[in-house]
Amino acid sequence: MSLAKWIDFQSLGDERGSLVAVEIGQEKAVPFAIRRVYYIYRTEPGISRGFHAHKALRQVAIPVAGRCRMVLDDGFRQEDVWLDNPTRGLLIDSMMWREMHDFSKDCVLLVLASEHYDEGDYIRDYEQFLAGVR
Ligand code: TYD
Repeated sequence: MSLAKWIDFQSLGDERGSLVAVEIGQEKAVPFAIRRVYYIYRTEPGISRGFHAHKALRQVAIPVAGRCRMVLDDGFRQEDVWLDNPTRGLLIDSMMWREMHDFSKDCVLLVLASEHYDEGDYIRDYEQFLAGVR
């Protein structure tokens, strides 16, 4: 089974252009109450981000512009996916190591989070992450 859980949002594009509606719910929707939104943009060339897992936080990442590559790692295997479709969000569950690479110059990565920011929820040490999932 793939580590990447995609959510296909409702796309309401017409001859004027594109519009995506993101809702909370079960079908084609964010499966948690959103308590925080942040976005990553103007990432400098060659920069990678992430390199952590979360104990409880769940997130959905949507590339509203541009693209980046996400590496997901559940402690047993790794999967590489491109975030390059603004109508598709990637659900990143708790206890999933993530890294982001190869940001395009125009990339704006919108992230919807299930909890407020809490540094105590981060696992930034890979060995500690492995010990937590194995
Ligand atoms: P960081 O966790 O390093 O981002 P990434 O995992 O994408 O590499 O976050 C950068 C800084 O911003 C760090 O000092 C923590 C802070 N921050 C907040 O204050 N609130 C937030 O919601 C996020 C995501 C980060």
